[in-house]
Amino acid sequence: MNGGNAALLSLVNIYKHFPVRQSFFSREMLKVHAIDGVSIDVPYGKTVGLVGESGCGKTTLGRVALRLIAPDGGRIRFEGTDITRLSGEELRRTRRSMQIIFQDPYSSLNPRMRVRDIVGEGWRVHGMGGREEIREKAARLLARVGLSPDAADKYPHEFSGGQRQRIGIARAIALSPGLVVADEPVSALDVSVQAQILNLLKDIQEEYGMAYLFISHDLRVIRHMSDIVAVMYLGKLMEVSPAEDLFRGPLHPYTRSLLSAVPMLGGTPRENIVLRGEIPSPVAPPPGCRFHTRCFLAQKVCEEVCPLLRESAPGRLTACHFV
Ligand SMILES: Nc1ncnc2c1ncn2[C@@H]1O[C@H](COP(=O)(O)OP(=O)(O)OP(=O)(O)O)[C@@H](O)[C@H]1O
Ligand code: SF4
Ligand SMILES: [Mg+2]
Repeated sequence: MNGGNAALLSLVNIYKHFPVRQSFFSREMLKVHAIDGVSIDVPYGKTVGLVGESGCGKTTLGRVALRLIAPDGGRIRFEGTDITRLSGEELRRTRRSMQIIFQDPYSSLNPRMRVRDIVGEGWRVHGMGGREEIREKAARLLARVGLSPDAADKYPHEFSGGQRQRIGIARAIALSPGLVVADEPVSALDVSVQAQILNLLKDIQEEYGMAYLFISHDLRVIRHMSDIVAVMYLGKLMEVSPAEDLFRGPLHPYTRSLLSAVPMLGGTPRENIVLRGEIPSPVAPPPGCRFHTRCFLAQKVCEEVCPLLRESAPGRLTACHFV
């Protein structure tokens, strides 16, 4: 049921600006340009890794994709349906097929609910099974994510960070969603636990066939997980490429800078690029190419003309005048 070659999720020219007060005493409102014209597809059953520095808009894009917040502009298609303006019962039904896993497993789990009820909430809300059936399904699901049978009766505070993230994963997959947005799902965990959780996510994807929009600022994690990588900077996409191609030979100057900062990953040949300066404020992003204030290749034209995201090699998109 994959609608030919159509993507599971298509984001088309999405904008999201947040109004913020200029200062505590001021009445003047400014706009944070969190997302500025982003288009991207998530194919059925695949993982799109979304990477970029803090504040570039990754979480906002994930939340827009799930319709947890409404975009200011653009369209969202999911399973062949335009869901940009859905509301009420229709939106609720669509949400069954879209789930999220959060960075902080602790604050995302209701401390007053037993694990069995956390995992079974979706089934109960959607009337999928009686009490006993839900109990059995929850036990099977908890076993699948690697928790012991007695976990069902406990509360979230009785678990370690990694175990809590297993609970979060069980909750997310309970309704067999087509799409899971995983927002920094291992960033809060010890390095020793990260690989276990990432491998669990991969195994479950193979078994259930869902797609992931996988958000991380960590390129090593992105490489481990992704089929396609989208590199974001100040609310815009800089490069979208198959993961293998991107890590073998990054095209965009920003991607090249990011990769060169993680020597273990390397580009070929390995480059030594220092990403200079700080990220400009998203309240007043630079004109022209957003990256020009930090780019080692910037020319005059970059200060004036915003490069479009276009195909610069087969299957690879970049937004740069000189790729
Ligand atoms: N509700 C909000 N009100 C005002 N500004 C917001 C709001 N949510 C996000 N922002 C701003 O929008 C920009 C993008 O934020 P977002 O959380 O999407 O970035 P991110 O890439 O997920 O960052 P991080 O890696 O730190 O999680 C930031 O400048 C942030 O401060
Ligand atoms: S358009 Fe110019 S500033 Fe932007 S990435 Fe390309 S070279 Fe750098
Ligand atoms: Mg975030």
